[in-house]
Amino acid sequence: MSQKLWGGRFSGGVDARIDAFTSALSFDRRLVSHDLEGSMAHARMLLEQEVLTGSDGQAILAGLASLLADIEAGVLQVEGPDEDVHSWIERNLTDRIGEPALRLHTARSRNDQTATALRLYVRTSLVDLARRTGLLLELWLDLAAEHRETWLPGYTHLQRGQPVSLAHHLLAHFWSFEADARRLRTLHDGGFRSPLGAGALAGSPYPIAPKRSAELLGFVDSYPNSMLAVSDRDYVAEAIFVSSLAMVHLSRFATEVILWTTPEFGFATLDDSIAKGSSLMPQKKNPEAAEILRGKTGRVIGDLAGLLSVLQGLPLTYNSDLQEDKEGLFDALDTAAASLECAAAIAGGLNFCPDRMAAALVGGFLTATDLADYLVAKGVAFRSAHHLAGQAVRSAEEKGGELWELELAELQEVSSQIEADVFEILRPESSAGRKRHRGGPAPESVGDQLEEAAGALGELGDWLDGIEASPIRRAYDEGRLAGDAL
Ligand code: ARG
Repeated sequence: MSQKLWGGRFSGGVDARIDAFTSALSFDRRLVSHDLEGSMAHARMLLEQEVLTGSDGQAILAGLASLLADIEAGVLQVEGPDEDVHSWIERNLTDRIGEPALRLHTARSRNDQTATALRLYVRTSLVDLARRTGLLLELWLDLAAEHRETWLPGYTHLQRGQPVSLAHHLLAHFWSFEADARRLRTLHDGGFRSPLGAGALAGSPYPIAPKRSAELLGFVDSYPNSMLAVSDRDYVAEAIFVSSLAMVHLSRFATEVILWTTPEFGFATLDDSIAKGSSLMPQKKNPEAAEILRGKTGRVIGDLAGLLSVLQGLPLTYNSDLQEDKEGLFDALDTAAASLECAAAIAGGLNFCPDRMAAALVGGFLTATDLADYLVAKGVAFRSAHHLAGQAVRSAEEKGGELWELELAELQEVSSQIEADVFEILRPESSAGRKRHRGGPAPESVGDQLEEAAGALGELGDWLDGIEASPIRRAYDEGRLAGDAL
């Protein structure tokens, strides 16, 4: 049985089954470096406030630094009988520095400690996800730039609607992914307050400085309320939500990969490197990665539902239910990270088939709307023009041909305002080119869009380049953790 942090009032040991069931170490050990960082900030604040003596404070900071160095060098593993990573750290710190280690928990509880470590972990993960999203966006932009004049049908209701360029289609996904990166940034920059100082729930009687702890950790602020500080998991919910929405966006791309690589669509083929075979049917080349990507989306949405279910109805303040915030969060963040990489691999291994896309422009009367717009330009009200163009579609359908295969006289039966210049309008390849406004599919609009997209990508890159470690982490990196000024 392990040595507990709280054994004083207990005379008997804990049932091994209870110990095993309630232990968090197997999953919360991934918080170790973040918890050490949080502990350094706490110790530093206590030292500055003279709650700890100079020699105790120095000893604690040096001990925490030596643990972090060994963890990061891979020479120390987080394992043992401890009930969670926080207990593990206290035991190991005590082994290293003795008595002063027992003073680190002054003005702190595992309740504000775990909440601090988890925030630091989430904050780092958001940057990692944003970086991966940036790599995907870069690849995507290059792909789109190659296909400004590759035409294919744009769909509504999965029925062919109007011609667009492949660049325009790809950029629609680009902007969804870009919005994901933006959400990650917003959450990273604004979503984190420091719970340190909240103690178990009601703060502490020492002259602590919660805002200083927040500053040392690079958090936007401390909490205005200690009870909220230990029970708030909004940032966990937000991180899983942002991950879920990113997964939803990836899954929409995945479905298109699955559809487009069917022989029925044939808009793309899969490079061997991203396809999988069948154990029975020798001819198969399956888009398994895209299917699994789509499947994992359900799982991450499940993580969100799981966390919200844990949180709903919890009374203030800390309850052990909150320990269940972690595994779903880790799963969501890990899955989103892996999925972003997988999506980049899939995008890189898709071979588009412009001929098949062009062939799909025929047979669906994709320029019927262009005909209506042509009549509007001649002064016909749109609703009437819509009706007349519909009649032209019916004539072409009855004849078994395309709109542009109708005789001018046949078109003039629909409307006497139709002239020979209509045939240019009826060509699917010309359609997108007339939609030249911002957000439109004309090659010049798409050119502007590509520029705008490159700008957004540059902004994301600047933001990523500007990410700094927290002041306490920088002080550790530079070996001035216990120095005068931080
Ligand atoms: N391992 C716990 C968690 O992850 C932290 C400890 C909370 N405090 C307590 N008295 N059990 O939430």
